[in-house]
This record gives sequence, C-alpha cells and structure tokens, in this order.
Amino acid sequence: MRIRAIITVVKKQLMMTIENETQMSPANVDMQCRIVPAHAEWLDVAATLLRSGNIVAFPTETVYGLGANALDEAAVAKIFAAKGRPSNNPLIVHVSSPDNVEEVAVVTDRARALMAEFWPGPLTLVLPKRDTVASNVTAGGATVGVRMPAHAVALELIVRAGVPVAAPSANRSQQVSPTLAQHVLDSLGDHVPLIIDGGACKVGLESTVLDLTSDRATILRPGAISAAQISAVLCAPVSLPTATSQTTQALRSPGMMRRHYAPNTPVVITSAPSQEAALHIAPALIVWSSTSANNRPENATEVICLSANASEYSYRLYAVLRQLDNTNASAIIIEEVPGSPEWAAVRDRLRRASAPRE
Ligand code: TXA
Ligand code: MG
Repeated sequence: MRIRAIITVVKKQLMMTIENETQMSPANVDMQCRIVPAHAEWLDVAATLLRSGNIVAFPTETVYGLGANALDEAAVAKIFAAKGRPSNNPLIVHVSSPDNVEEVAVVTDRARALMAEFWPGPLTLVLPKRDTVASNVTAGGATVGVRMPAHAVALELIVRAGVPVAAPSANRSQQVSPTLAQHVLDSLGDHVPLIIDGGACKVGLESTVLDLTSDRATILRPGAISAAQISAVLCAPVSLPTATSQTTQALRSPGMMRRHYAPNTPVVITSAPSQEAALHIAPALIVWSSTSANNRPENATEVICLSANASEYSYRLYAVLRQLDNTNASAIIIEEVPGSPEWAAVRDRLRRASAPRE
C-alpha cells in the first residue's frame, strides 16, 4: 500500500512538472523538455518509475541507455516498443555490483576473473541466464548479457531502483547511439518519459560484448575492452568476429546486423577522401590524419578532423555523425582508420554505418 501511495505521488509530481514550470527540479520543471539533471531527487523519481514498470533513459560511460526492470516482462516490452526494436534482439542487463549478477546469471570462474579486472566498465559478459530474468530480455534465449557500467549516475540509479536494469542504447533501432541527453530526446522524443542528463559519455562507443557460454570466449561486438586485454586475464585465446562469421553472429547476437549505427545520409569509407569527394556534389568529410585534414576538397561542405587517437576518435564519432546527418551534405565521406587493434571497435561501427540498406 505504502509503495503504491509513493508511486502515485511521484507520478503526480512528474505529470505536474510535465505540464508546468521552467526550473529544473522535480517540483518545478519544464517538461516540454524531459531532460532532467542527475540530482538525487530526480534519481529517486527515475528509480520509482523503474520499479513501477516504466522506462527511463540514463547515462553510462559508453552511450545512453533506455532502462526497464529486467525482471518485469511488461516493462521490458515498453523498451522494444519505444525503440522499434525487433523482438529477436536481446538486451543487456545492468547491475550495480558483481555481487548482484547471480540474481540474473550463472557466474563462472572466467566471468568472475573478468569482472574483477574490468568492472565497472565497458565489458558485457554473455552467461547462462536465470529464470528470474524476463524472457523478452533474452529474446527467449538461454543466455543473458550482463554489465556493470562505470558511471556514477547509472550505478546510483540501479542501487536506488533496487532491481537489475535491462537497457539497450537509447535510440530508435538501427540508428546511431546517443552520447548526449539531447541525442536521446532527438531520437526517441515522446517515447521516453524521463531522460537523466549525465553530460557526454566518456567512451562514446557501445561496450565489448563477450560470449562466455562456450569453451572459447568469443567477442560478439568489439568495444573499448580489447581481445588482447581479455585474453591476458583468461590466459587463453579469444575469438574475434570475422567477415565469414557475420551470418552466424547475426543469429547469435542480432545487434550484429550488417547495417546498424547508421545515419540517414549515405556513408562512404575510403582511404582517399579527397578523391572520393570529387565524385559527390556537396559531401561532408570526417578525417583523422593530418594529410587529409590539410587537403580540403573545394566542394566539401565541412571537413571534420576527429583524432589520430582511437579513444578520442570514439568519444567524438557519434556526435559528429549526428551533426553531419542534420546538414544538407549529399554524403558523409569517412577516411579509413588504421588497421591496428585499438581501432577495432571504430572500424566495426564505421563498417556498419556504411553498409547498404537491406
Ligand atoms: O555499452 C553498451 O553496451 C550500451 C549501454 C547502454 O550499456 N548498451 C547497448 O545495448 O549497446 P544494445 O542493446 O544497443 O546492444 C546490445 C548488444 C546487441 O548486439 C545484442 O544483440 C547483444 O548485445 N546481446 C545482448 N544480449 C545478448 C545475448 N544473450 N547473447 C548474445 N548477444 C547479446
Ligand atoms: Mg544499440
């Protein structure tokens, strides 16, 4: 009864704030904009929304997530609806401590070692699932992806909610993931009641997804934690996604679909951006090398030099793709990035952003 009463009060408060005022506090906010600051009072509102079966967008160190109680099937269904996500694509469950993983998954020795080394952080572990997890979280499968994000706001929200939080990236399915609260609003608009603003995501690309359910650990999606780092902890080789394994990957991890993380403007990846530019009417360019940065094609609407450092490049990439997608550029031409391991996640996302529509 007491919890019901609290939820009703908080909901009323939220609705009132949605309708009224301009100052950013739960009692007084302009809810034309559903972006709210990451203050304790708003985290309580968000936690109550999660516990009462609603969805909330929140920051993590990788990208913004769209969360729901992972134990509540009806709540999780709201995520799929808001994103327009195919129901065969499973969600990652977010926890606030390695101690809470047992509630949702079977923890193996390998998983324990990786959690000790990389959590909190951008590494998702695919493990055998427990029955507590709502079946739509895992797309009906027997495994569940789990991660502990390295973001104080995300962790505080999960603690206050008191439940594991299923969360995909907070964007419409197949679009570029959000790295700012405003991106979430741009992408999901009315489909999400509350977006907690945690500023820009420090990593900027989605977590590494590692399948630990077979003898050989396999990376399903490259991210900031590299195969070499994982291999060093496991003292065993780690399989990487290869071009030939893409079809099987798509079945095991549907988020690995060929076209994904893609802007609406056509994207071309090339080692010779200025030559490619000559083939387009008014292209925008994203480059990383100083040679390309100094060689500005005359017809280019914009030339953005990201960074020759892979982490810095990752941090800025999605925001720049969104920015250029909102201009009249006829194409986004992206200079091919180096082939070294630290660029693996960037190469993967660029390949998907440039894949033809199916
Ligand atoms: O960094 C991230 O991982 C962000 C933040 C919010 O945590 N989340 C994210 O979620 O990128 P999403 O749903 O956009 O991508 C999750 C990926 C998908 O490729 C999905 O197929 C895969 O993880 N995945 C989730 N559970 C899986 C499972 N049980 N088996 C295989 N792949 C799984
Ligand atoms: Mg996503």
